[in-house]
Amino acid sequence: MASFIVLWVALCFASVAFAADGSTTLIVGADRRTAINLDGDWHYIVDPYNNGYYDFRMKERADGYFLNEKPVSDNKLVEYDFAKSPTLKVPGDWNSQSPQLFFYEGTVWYQKDFQYQRKPHTRTFLHIGAANYISHAWVNGKKACDHEGGFTPFDCEVTSLVRDGNNFVVIYVNNQRTREGVPTLNTDWWNYGGITRDVYLVETPEIFIDDYSIQLQRGEGTRISCWMHVSGAGNGTPVTVKIPELGLANTIDTDANGRAAVYFAAPTVQRWSPEKPKLYSVEISAAGDTIKDDIGFRSIEVKGDNILLNGKSIFLRGISIHAEAPYRSGRAWSEQDAETLLGWAKELGANFVRLAHYPHDERMLRLADRMGILVWSEVPVYWMIDWESPATLANATNQLYEMIHRDRNRASIVLWSVANETPNTPARLWFLRNLIHTAHAEDPTRPVTAALLVNTVTNSDDGTRTKILDDPLGEYLDVLGCNEYIGWYEGPPEWASRTQWRSKYNKPLIMSEFGGDAKAGLHGAPTERWTEEYQETIYRQQIAMLKQISFLRGLSPWILMDFRSPRRTLPGVQDYYNRKGLISNDGQKKKAFFVLQEYYKSFTAQ
Ligand code: GCU
Repeated sequence: MASFIVLWVALCFASVAFAADGSTTLIVGADRRTAINLDGDWHYIVDPYNNGYYDFRMKERADGYFLNEKPVSDNKLVEYDFAKSPTLKVPGDWNSQSPQLFFYEGTVWYQKDFQYQRKPHTRTFLHIGAANYISHAWVNGKKACDHEGGFTPFDCEVTSLVRDGNNFVVIYVNNQRTREGVPTLNTDWWNYGGITRDVYLVETPEIFIDDYSIQLQRGEGTRISCWMHVSGAGNGTPVTVKIPELGLANTIDTDANGRAAVYFAAPTVQRWSPEKPKLYSVEISAAGDTIKDDIGFRSIEVKGDNILLNGKSIFLRGISIHAEAPYRSGRAWSEQDAETLLGWAKELGANFVRLAHYPHDERMLRLADRMGILVWSEVPVYWMIDWESPATLANATNQLYEMIHRDRNRASIVLWSVANETPNTPARLWFLRNLIHTAHAEDPTRPVTAALLVNTVTNSDDGTRTKILDDPLGEYLDVLGCNEYIGWYEGPPEWASRTQWRSKYNKPLIMSEFGGDAKAGLHGAPTERWTEEYQETIYRQQIAMLKQISFLRGLSPWILMDFRSPRRTLPGVQDYYNRKGLISNDGQKKKAFFVLQEYYKSFTAQ
């Protein structure tokens, strides 16, 4: 245990240290602050040879090649011009915006001019909601920050870089997959590159609230626990927390690290739940800075093989979702995308979604808060990560840290997931135990899970099959997730009806994936792969099997909607789509959708 704590602390300070030199940080509630939106058309230059970053000797350029101010004078040799270059929409991946870039993995330079007026006693941050995968940003030709990870936000302090009047920002984005990356070389989703979420300039006072957690205290009935961090504050800065609707307000001073904590007894608090997703307006102010957020109060706990929401056992009627944009394809990011995807989940009768395999857009979580949908949120530690590499562990830890920091105040999130389908090896166990430790340390209020694979034992006499949950990682998880594909990768659908489940652990199980591909509108015999009837049969057989598992506490079948994958090439059927959706990418519901809907409706009919 000691080695994990040391490592965790070292990694946290590492990320903060990163903040010091590359001034990359993460402002909690950034989307609730005064901001200048930089979304829209950005000029871009595709740079497959990284010519803008490295010179012909492959040495990092010092001449700021793509960073020159316009116009360039004295006949200087310049072989690019952003102003004459085409544009891409931000937010948006580049692959779905230009047929030439459909398969492109490499470097793209983005550039945008903006007007700005500096204000006294004001700090300015460039907020990037997400950029896949490696990013470097400059403002007015000066380095602002660097970031690794395609699905979490980062804020770059540019107070000393912006000026009055004309300004320009240049962002280098590279989405090449690497052995030591997170995710790494192989995934079953499209490696959408680019600035895939909002970009804006956030303005704050010199001293401001950059982090806070306001939640029901674990196991403490109606006690609300609040802690805040005030950037730039030392000892004795008063911080006030108000929850007007509950008539609660309290002021406490920060300590030497700018941190303050306060508790409220809230006997009249209405708990957030799928049936009643009650959100309260919470106001935090310190040193002239104020931030407001909408927060739901609920407790989530694990007792034996049970999951308790607000002290009551709950069954998670779920569905898995990729951040694939409905109808237009590409990386989902908009309010409309979120409404369509979560709207379909509600229509299915779901009270739970597994957002796979990486943190989704912040809008998705805020909408889940408002709609009362419980969420499994995951970092892209997927398949064959480089388990032996300390740099990979630091990267994965930082992505976990950023996911938790961005979303810790979302009542909808009830599970942090640290991995998907990872090999049962000692190096992987050590790696993931570190992540589990980090998740618990960063957020002691939520259970941690992961999607495991399990072995099968077949009894040769009567052909019954037994699946045993005995992955050693199970010992360190609070909730077990399991992916199984009986009927698709593993035998015919009817094998499900003679499969039993055993677990080495007295812990809740969520069947985090099952399903099969079907091309919408393709019909045939229930034994014919790729047809809607075959997928329907898989679901009927699965549901019959799942009902027999005494410690099953939820499921999130794979998957709500067909999504792009470079691994799925069957012409006329897949065409670079994984077709395991219950709904096609253009919104056609398949027969299996109604099988699952009927099952979920049976819960609420009881
Ligand atoms: C895996 C994996 C998914 C993948 C799915 C499939 O279990 O977790 O990312 O898309 O199976 O094969 O369709």
